[in-house]
Amino acid sequence: MRGGGGHFLKEYAPATATSSCSLSLEGKVAIVTGGASGIGEAAVRLFASHGATVVIADIQDHLGSAVAASVGDKCSYMHCDVTDEKQVEALVSHAVAAHGRLDVLFSNAGVMPAPPSGVLDMDIAELDRVMAVNVRGAACTVKHAARAMVAGGTRGSIVCTASVAASVGGLSAASYTASKHAVLGLVRGAAGELGKHGVRINCVSPFGVGTPLACRYSGATPAQVEESCCALACLKGVVLKPSHIAEAALFFASDESAFVTGHNLVVDGGFTVSPINFP
Ligand SMILES: NC(=O)c1ccc[n+]([C@@H]2O[C@H](COP(=O)([O-])OP(=O)(O)OC[C@H]3O[C@@H](n4cnc5c(N)ncnc54)[C@H](O)[C@@H]3O)[C@@H](O)[C@H]2O)c1
Repeated sequence: MRGGGGHFLKEYAPATATSSCSLSLEGKVAIVTGGASGIGEAAVRLFASHGATVVIADIQDHLGSAVAASVGDKCSYMHCDVTDEKQVEALVSHAVAAHGRLDVLFSNAGVMPAPPSGVLDMDIAELDRVMAVNVRGAACTVKHAARAMVAGGTRGSIVCTASVAASVGGLSAASYTASKHAVLGLVRGAAGELGKHGVRINCVSPFGVGTPLACRYSGATPAQVEESCCALACLKGVVLKPSHIAEAALFFASDESAFVTGHNLVVDGGFTVSPINFP
């Protein structure tokens, strides 16, 4: 509040206070990496239902094509291994050539080490694989999407999937924790550089979601992953689903977050701010 009498608020509040928050992506073109499964698939469906034309990029061709077909005409699939810069460059070129512009990148593809191991037994080849997908892959997609957004003057929005492991150690293997800290660093560094071009970049940081990735890693069923996260979160009465992460990404993708960049939106039911459950 500035000066006396709340003048600053009176002047600026009505536009947002009275408008409906529809989070429209109408007319926008989006790429979703890792869009064949889990959180990415939920985002593909949500972005399309809010008006976006969506290009799914993944390495699971059968699943990715099936998701695209089920979404409809405004969704397509392209094979893209995000660790390969040439494939990422081709993906972005394809999206711009086919649809005329690129407004949104959801850089979401990711992996966890298999089998999970502690730092004393860390498989360094596995560390390289995790870093290649989670960090190199994110960097390749951010780089080429941002170049297209700057060249096209689209004032685009980039959203990366980090994790609660970007802020807290000990929840998963150190190699994965390191990779997600690096994703957060990439987002913060890129935000500083891309702001002058009007390009925004933020990240969403999920707690445990019962996707194939989390189930493979933990050896648990989706219901068991959900149950253990519900037990740890201080917020009770909500079960974390892929759609909750997709909703957070939708906010960043939409113009409703027009002045938000460099942010890490943690979707964890309060776990990282209050890890102790009060009786
Ligand atoms: N599920 C969780 O509990 C959780 C928690 C925090 C963060 N995350 C992050 O969420 C993101 C999505 O994971 P998810 O849980 O939906 O898992 P998922 O396995 O359902 O989806 C990940 C997708 O990424 C794709 N992928 C993997 N390597 C790729 C590559 N080299 N190139 C292109 N695509 C590739 C996979 O084929 C898959 O479709 C990941 O970045 C993950 O680290 C997940």
